[in-house]
Amino acid sequence: MSDNNVIIFDTTLRDGEQALQASLTAREKLQIAFALERLGVDIIEAGFPVSSPGDFESVQQIAREIKNSRIAGLARAIDKDIDAAGEALKVAEAFRIHTFIATSTIHVENKLKKGFDDVVEMAVRSVKRARNYTDDVEFSCEDAGRTPIDHLCRMVEQTIKAGATTINIPDTVGYTLPSEFGGIIETLYNRVPNIDKAVISVHCHDDLGLSVANSISAVQAGARQIECTINGIGERAGNCSLEEVVMILNTRHDQLGLTTNVNPKEIHRTSQLVANICNMPVQSNKAIVGSNAFSHSSGIHQDGVLKSQNTYEIMTPETVGLSTNKLNLTSRSGRHVIKHRLEELGFEEKDYDLDKLYERFLTLADKKGQVFDYDLEALVFFTNLDSEDTFFSLESLSVQSGTENSATATVELRCGDKLVKEAAIGNGPVNSICGCISRITGYDLEIKDFKVASTSEGTDALGQVNIMATCRNQENAKVFHGMGLATDIIRSSARALVNLANDIHRSEKVAQLRDVGNGG
Ligand code: KIV
Ligand code: ZN
Repeated sequence: MSDNNVIIFDTTLRDGEQALQASLTAREKLQIAFALERLGVDIIEAGFPVSSPGDFESVQQIAREIKNSRIAGLARAIDKDIDAAGEALKVAEAFRIHTFIATSTIHVENKLKKGFDDVVEMAVRSVKRARNYTDDVEFSCEDAGRTPIDHLCRMVEQTIKAGATTINIPDTVGYTLPSEFGGIIETLYNRVPNIDKAVISVHCHDDLGLSVANSISAVQAGARQIECTINGIGERAGNCSLEEVVMILNTRHDQLGLTTNVNPKEIHRTSQLVANICNMPVQSNKAIVGSNAFSHSSGIHQDGVLKSQNTYEIMTPETVGLSTNKLNLTSRSGRHVIKHRLEELGFEEKDYDLDKLYERFLTLADKKGQVFDYDLEALVFFTNLDSEDTFFSLESLSVQSGTENSATATVELRCGDKLVKEAAIGNGPVNSICGCISRITGYDLEIKDFKVASTSEGTDALGQVNIMATCRNQENAKVFHGMGLATDIIRSSARALVNLANDIHRSEKVAQLRDVGNGG
């Protein structure tokens, strides 16, 4: 690898996932991991194996399935964490153990309640233990941004000596300024005698909105790995956003002279997938992936772009995988046209089931007239979601509501091989559908959040519903997430509730299997 290549370490599935209201299922994490692999990230931090049996299994599954990115697992500087990471990851083609301990005085004294010497000893011991599993060990100095520089230099030198091959310098609380953070990296290069034996990495949080600027300042000072997440999701205000750093390195190569292995054309699709699966919509004015990032509103700007695109565009939408529809897709379009358009949008045949997708395309085209790229992308995602091995599926739905009476719904669900129909009244259509689904499934649902968003423009747009709910008859207060898509938002809501019920059903099955495995 050239000295000018910056390693992209994606932590969407670890630092990003840690910040979600409802944790992701193993299947959802795997879907994101496939998208990250296709995006071309060098390292995927898949999770924190010791944190729960579910996380262990999901890291193991990702380690088994992903072939073109290295898989990392997080571990505190504790023996059992390192052993769990080593066990979960050992099935991977290439893996890394990422161990960490806090180094700032605030954390060492108040959180760890130890002396700095003890912390160095724990870090050294952990790196050595991790080296028994792999030659690729990363050590992170948590809260490095607020660590006294003498302590930081000592910790970095000792952990490299113990065998760490990557040293990560996190700005855990997003406190430092770009000049200050770049200065820390420069000082490490000047003062740590064995620094050339490791890659220096940075991991910045966005509490002051400086995570991307700090990461760029760090690579200018010599760091060669950036830790980041898709759409910048992560603890509190989030992490450094992958799409922003990648496009800065790409667009300002003239100034920075640095490259990455990421394929920018996959950025838009990966961003949409993560936003959908994580139920974290992207703000419209977000750099690179926001819906307004490439739209020009004022007359002067529109006029300028029409005359010459580079008047107001420093990169083209196509660079990040956004393209404009050249074909009119209607109910008269054949299957091969849909397949061709999907190919142009970057989908491979294995990404979708053409028969199922085409059926839903025709239904949509009948309703909307013209189907746009964003509709097709949404159809791919939701058709895949609906064809997952689901226990419940929506057979029929009828709802009556108005200003005078309470709403009434009748829902028929297929539950495995049985058909079950129920009716319920409620204070609105969604509430009455929820009543029916609760009766059929036996899950006493308590809706915590309900969001409707349109995936496109106009009154015939597809409406996407995201629902977060707990199940009152489960002991834990786990929050489940369901998504649904249709031109009619009542149907989207019903689909989202059925999707959520399947999520609960899957989690119950996993718990039962675990109980059997534990002899319980
Ligand atoms: O923000 C942080 O310091 C972390 C470490 C575990 C790398 O996420
Ligand atoms: Zn972090």
